[in-house]
Amino acid sequence: MRIDILTVFPEMFIGPFDYSIIKRAKDKGLIDIYIHNLRDFSNDRHRRVDDYPYGGEAGMVLKVEPIANAIEFLNKQRSYDEIIFLTPDGTPFTQSIANKLSLMNNIILLCGHYKGIDERVRELFITMELSIGDYVLSGGELPAMVVVDAITRLLPGVLGDEQSALSDSFQDGLISPPVYTRPANFRGHKVPDILRSGDHNAIEEWKLQQSIKRTQIRENKKNNNEL
Ligand code: ADE
Repeated sequence: MRIDILTVFPEMFIGPFDYSIIKRAKDKGLIDIYIHNLRDFSNDRHRRVDDYPYGGEAGMVLKVEPIANAIEFLNKQRSYDEIIFLTPDGTPFTQSIANKLSLMNNIILLCGHYKGIDERVRELFITMELSIGDYVLSGGELPAMVVVDAITRLLPGVLGDEQSALSDSFQDGLISPPVYTRPANFRGHKVPDILRSGDHNAIEEWKLQQSIKRTQIRENKKNNNEL
């Protein structure tokens, strides 16, 4: 899979993609991530990418030309399954959307910044708008990293054990059960006996019950707006 990211802050992506699972996926050639600086696509001799909004609101707006130039440059080289804009008013990003995106060949992630992007970018190029939650971040860079991480772990061959992404929380609508490792007793807090019993059927049943319980607690909290 190939992911192209358009941003005015390419340096922000140094680090997050160079560790752990994403690094391993890149090294294995399972994912190619390209970061493009929108300033490189500016028509302006000062490489400006933003300008004052019409109508006199506060804040700057990302201009349409650099984004159009970048997307058209990429579109000439390959076809993209989705051109995604990260924005707080987008569709809430979920595991199910991550699953769908992980089946695609090429996607573009466009990171907004400042007050927003010129509306014509959305009209002309964007095929999907995603939000990572009902809060406002300074830009789409962190959300893009979140989306890339969630997708990458789903790509076949990325996780050592093919089962592990399938057993993630949310894959079957359930939260994962608690996990433990040694020591069996930490300051009097013991690992549940059942996990050390060797009875695999009983262990699976216990895990399922724990998942159901955790999912219910979470749902109740959500419905009651509790923290
Ligand atoms: N840009 C700023 N805030 C965002 C959010 N919550 N989700 C996606 N993109 C954003």
